[in-house]
Amino acid sequence: MEVIIRPDAPAAADLVARILAADLRAKPDLVLGLATGRTMDLLYDRLAQMRLDFSHCHTFNLDEYVGLAPTDPRSYRASMNKALFDRVNINPDHTHVPNGLAPDLDAECLRYENLIAQSGGIDFQLLGIGQSGHIGFNEPLSALQSRTRVKALSPTTAAQNAAFFGGADKVPRRAITMGVGTIMESRRIVLLATGPGKAEIIAQAVEGPITAMISATALQLHRRCVVVVDNAAAAALKEQEYYRWIFDNEPEWEPFRRPSTL
Ligand code: GLP
Repeated sequence: MEVIIRPDAPAAADLVARILAADLRAKPDLVLGLATGRTMDLLYDRLAQMRLDFSHCHTFNLDEYVGLAPTDPRSYRASMNKALFDRVNINPDHTHVPNGLAPDLDAECLRYENLIAQSGGIDFQLLGIGQSGHIGFNEPLSALQSRTRVKALSPTTAAQNAAFFGGADKVPRRAITMGVGTIMESRRIVLLATGPGKAEIIAQAVEGPITAMISATALQLHRRCVVVVDNAAAAALKEQEYYRWIFDNEPEWEPFRRPSTL
């Protein structure tokens, strides 16, 4: 795992956009795993501005609420359409989000896993992190080898997403989510976290012990995972100086140290 610290949220989102753009240019038929959440708004704005060619790309979103129609503006399908898919040249048939209205949810989870496998697996998985330490909707005690399945949402997550539903009690209680094991099979993972509200959970996820109580700690076992944070989300990390040195000196990051051009 590597941790990269940028001064603020726009700079952190810009770096992730540039990492993703470089991978997409190198492999135009990239299989991209996508995430939702407020943190991703700046990133998707940036990707839309960059006018990248998504025409050969396939995408798989991490999760979807059970019981919400794709047309419901609070669904992750609708928010992805608005935040990204409608703004870039991706083929809508190439964009995949679990169907939270499927009559047989277990069959839907299996279908989703099979679709990922048929696409050749995920090349680049984008992640946010929830206050509970979840990736996707892998709430505390999610098995670190779990696959796509239905998961009950924790009270912490309901509170975090309450604003979208007009109260924590109105947040759907269940979601379909890729499993931790599914996510870990991605060839590359980039997690983006910004703001002071993420400082404590980022410190636990990155520098704490690996535990099923915090599914993001599984990323410590991944061979190619970068955690991109802003100063605020980095505030509780013990080894900040070391992480800053890496971005400022390691050759791998040299192209990304230069000022951004669209
Ligand atoms: C939801 C999603 C997660 C996301 C999290 C962070 O819970 N299921 O994939 O990481 O939100 O949300 P935000 O970026 O709004 O803090």
